[in-house]
Amino acid sequence: MNDSSAPVPHLDRLRSEGDLNLSPYRRAWETENISPATQRLLAEDAGYFLHQSLSTPCLNALRSCQGAWIEDVEGRRYLDFHGNTVHQVGFSHPRVIAAIKDQLDTLSFCTRRYTCEPAIALAKKLTEITPGDLKRVLFAPGGTSAVGMALKLARVATGRFKFISMWDAFHGASLDAISVGGEAIFRRGIGPLLPGCEHVPPPDNRHCPFRCGDFCNLACADYIEYVLEKEGDVAAVIGETVRCTPFIPPPDYWRRIRAACDKHGALLILDEIPTGLGRTGRMFACEHFGIIPDMLVLGKGLGGGVFPLAALIAREGLNVAADTALGHYTHEKNPLACAAGLATLQVIEQEKLVERAHTLGLYALERMRGMAKRHPLIGDVRGLGLLMGIELLPDKNSPTRASADAEPIMYGALRRGLNFKVTMGNILTLTPPLTIARTELDQAFSILEDCIGEVESSRKV
Ligand SMILES: Cc1ncc(COP(=O)(O)O)c(C=O)c1O
Repeated sequence: MNDSSAPVPHLDRLRSEGDLNLSPYRRAWETENISPATQRLLAEDAGYFLHQSLSTPCLNALRSCQGAWIEDVEGRRYLDFHGNTVHQVGFSHPRVIAAIKDQLDTLSFCTRRYTCEPAIALAKKLTEITPGDLKRVLFAPGGTSAVGMALKLARVATGRFKFISMWDAFHGASLDAISVGGEAIFRRGIGPLLPGCEHVPPPDNRHCPFRCGDFCNLACADYIEYVLEKEGDVAAVIGETVRCTPFIPPPDYWRRIRAACDKHGALLILDEIPTGLGRTGRMFACEHFGIIPDMLVLGKGLGGGVFPLAALIAREGLNVAADTALGHYTHEKNPLACAAGLATLQVIEQEKLVERAHTLGLYALERMRGMAKRHPLIGDVRGLGLLMGIELLPDKNSPTRASADAEPIMYGALRRGLNFKVTMGNILTLTPPLTIARTELDQAFSILEDCIGEVESSRKV
């Protein structure tokens, strides 16, 4: 096994969204942990599904999920600090499950051209909790489709077709979404993408091409204004309010971009598919930055961690596409998904999960800062609510990524019952449910610290 900590640029480009599923570390973990019965299941999966990066072949097979935990078919339990960020209210929250069961007994589907109470109630609730004038909703069966609707609406509303988006961003896997997305693993070999999509550097001061380092002067935000002015006819800027990696932009970043969009007649679309609904310690991540986008895109946990459900929420003035089919999705008003969504929002409010994410997030950040003092491999720790990341670097000021260390830590954690994903090759990305108990959070950080220590010791010999 190659365990050199030297970065491999080619692989690093492919590691942006998640850990590689064909690595030698994966094979070693499998040999040690996967029984012949599970191996048969995984082989069967690989025999029927089209293979694709990141998800085939699978890591393991699950049989149940509850709260912060997933359980594999061999009965091993893992605290799920990944959960595809769908589990704000934890897996199988009893009120979400009850709402779905109730709905199943009455209206299980809503045929096109009809509406239904759960869909109206969820749309109304979303317009009540979103900031400002975000008053018009369209549902879609997934985040990517909701991003697609936002791009179409921006074109119709402005009569322009160009978009500005960020390198390294993820907005979904369809052709329109990867056109504004910035990850090689989704784009390479795919051929021509949407015309008019211009990419700019994301607000990531460690790898910033403007080299502002620790003293960010927001050159990256100014550059967006520069492009808006030069192009002169950009329909919209689209970005993840907070990159789920996480990268947390400086406080003024979005204010500058909001102002630049207004000045140059471009719309601002914020993608909060993994980060909205309380994850960051505010109901919506844009509230941290004191701005309101023209369109907000939500998804993932909106379906209660059960149903695929996403929403485009636009400001009232953008209700201008009555003659265009923006989405027209078969499951646009799915009553079961909407009942799950409504129950999810009620749970978030009643269990005060936004406040909980904020408080537990501060506690976790302190804990990670303590770990960073004890472990030289930790180059940076970041957190906003319960969106957290531990960045591994060969040394604190290194511009290179300690990619070869992240995977042994991840598989070491799996051996001890903690599941999370690695992003950009060297960032341990941690997104537990907002319902997580303090003891479970402590348990996860103890596991992480043990695993990081173990890898550090192995590097010394
Ligand atoms: C920021 C962001 N945008 C869009 C998407 C796409 O959502 P979906 O997988 O529901 O299509 C994701 C999914 O991971 C995401 O993280």
